[in-house]
Amino acid sequence: MTTIVRAKVAHTPRNPFAGEGALEVFEDGGLAFADGRVVGCGTYEDVRAVHSEAAVLDERDAIMLPGFVDCHVHYPQIGVIGAMGLELLDWLSRRCLPEEARLADPSYAAAVAESFVSGLAANGTTTALVFGSHFPPAQEALFSAALKRGLRVASGLVVSDRGLLPSLHVTPGDALESSRELIERWHGRGLIRYAVTPRFSVSCSEEMLAVCGELAASVPGVLVTTHLNESLGEIELVASLFPCAHDYLDTYERCGLLGPRSVFAHDVHVSDDELRRLAGAGAAVAHCPSSNAFLGSGLFPLRRHLDAGVRVALGTDVGAGTGLSLLGEGLMAYEMQRLRPDGLPLSPEHLLWLATAAGAQALGLSDEVGDLSVGKSADYVLVRPPAGSTLATVLERSESVSERLGAVFTLAREESIAEVRVAGQVVSR
Ligand code: GUN
Ligand code: ZN
Repeated sequence: MTTIVRAKVAHTPRNPFAGEGALEVFEDGGLAFADGRVVGCGTYEDVRAVHSEAAVLDERDAIMLPGFVDCHVHYPQIGVIGAMGLELLDWLSRRCLPEEARLADPSYAAAVAESFVSGLAANGTTTALVFGSHFPPAQEALFSAALKRGLRVASGLVVSDRGLLPSLHVTPGDALESSRELIERWHGRGLIRYAVTPRFSVSCSEEMLAVCGELAASVPGVLVTTHLNESLGEIELVASLFPCAHDYLDTYERCGLLGPRSVFAHDVHVSDDELRRLAGAGAAVAHCPSSNAFLGSGLFPLRRHLDAGVRVALGTDVGAGTGLSLLGEGLMAYEMQRLRPDGLPLSPEHLLWLATAAGAQALGLSDEVGDLSVGKSADYVLVRPPAGSTLATVLERSESVSERLGAVFTLAREESIAEVRVAGQVVSR
């Protein structure tokens, strides 16, 4: 059974940082899908001519975009969004970690997991690399909620053996055992994948990082994710904890945690040598502008990353980030580059790429998701502003697709996300 969705379709099947013509738009467009896969994408007329028997969903008043990809977001932190007035290390100890410790209670964790997964879907996020919990039952709760909802999620138990609250610490041996059990149960089940997740070098001994490296090397297809070069205070602390390391990246690299399946969040204060090694390894960086602004961590050097050949995508970094919307995060990325003296001027098509296909690449999923090309999974978002909203007014007056897309990144949030599907199945409406 084939379905055609008739809408204004926009996606970036090519990288706009690499050349012109990356944005593909069909004003009266059609996306045909069958068995969860895209079988046609183009003008409605063309798609209809090929799939004349298909059922048609008339969404002409909506803009269809590929499902958004969030490359860094913390599930246990949904309840601490908006905790103002602190920089990273104080924010962690005073606001964030006490909340994370509450997930020791499995019923509390299950409720948080449910709200988190609903929030992702309601914001149009169809794929996410999720920083999990320190507690195995809470991690189970996240995987269960994501599986039930049908979202494409990579996540894993967060491991640490020092520097946080004692209730969040485990020994490297216990971390290895619990991680292996979770991998056994969840890696490759439905759309779930496992991500080896040392919290950051401040909270992990070298032995703990080595255990993470061992896991990453021994399980095919797992991702690795952690934090890197987020704030100056954090970088100083890492240098004092690892006197033998050349730099922050080296604390991970020496334990086998730097590779093509590694996604490092932040990387605001990075050296040229670290950029060279990140690019050489094919690692990705999750740029989290709303978090960087909220905690005052700094202005992300996007141009230096791209010039060095490092892959960059977006992360909301909730709860330091200010919400689960990748559209909001795209706007912040744009504004942050405006504020840097060497900032890269970003267009709406750059933002769409960063919020979709760049994330798919970073997570090793570009054959599967990120744009609406034939053969990919039918993961998409329909944006329809509420009647009478400011966005509705702006869209009525926009004269080009680029203007409309700029307005969507600037104004469309949860209330304008009308429908979200993963593999053709509704995950939010
Ligand atoms: N570094 C270590 N843990 C965290 C966290 O939870 N949020 C952010 N923004 N940085 C971190
Ligand atoms: Zn984070």
